[in-house]
Amino acid sequence: MDNNYSITTDSPAETINFGHKLAGFIKSPALILLKGALGTGKTLIIKAAVSELGYKDEVTSPTFSIVQEYKADLEILHMDLYRLDSREELIEIGFEDYLNREAVIFIEWPELALSLIPADFIFIDIEKISDNQRKITVRGEGKQSSLLIERLNQEC
Ligand SMILES: Nc1ncnc2c1ncn2[C@@H]1O[C@H](COP(=O)(O)OP(=O)(O)OP(=O)(O)O)[C@@H](O)[C@H]1O
Ligand SMILES: [Mg+2]
Repeated sequence: MDNNYSITTDSPAETINFGHKLAGFIKSPALILLKGALGTGKTLIIKAAVSELGYKDEVTSPTFSIVQEYKADLEILHMDLYRLDSREELIEIGFEDYLNREAVIFIEWPELALSLIPADFIFIDIEKISDNQRKITVRGEGKQSSLLIERLNQEC
């Protein structure tokens, strides 16, 4: 069983399309970590997925608030850890309590959190190939996430 899925997109619209497809395979609770340099498309993928999961208002990047919650049929959390400097700060914002919620949780800049996360998660790595091209690699750790990768490979 292949535990990876990858796609190269040639425009923001294609990346949005990937976000929509990904959301179709997500079941709550889920943890989705998005890694990539500034401006690679992490927020774009999350916006697309959140709207596909049924949240109809505008999704903005939570850089200044660290955590944003969206209430749809599912509970959705969107975190951006870019401005945090230490694991202690992460624990202070109640990170571990968020992880225990019955929610779909998206995390931008997850590096600081890696030692705190549970065994089942989806890891998305975005690489900038050129101005409009991105290589998106999705890895699944754990049973539920591996299943999602399998379905992405079968259907996309
Ligand atoms: N193929 C592509 N896929 C995704 N985004 C693209 C692509 N080509 C160009 N872009 C542009 O890259 C930018 C991605 O912005 P986005 O806010 O999603 O990045 P980010 O990874 O969340 O950055 P940050 O680390 O600052 O939060 C957008 O301006 C988008 O239009
Ligand atoms: Mg962002």
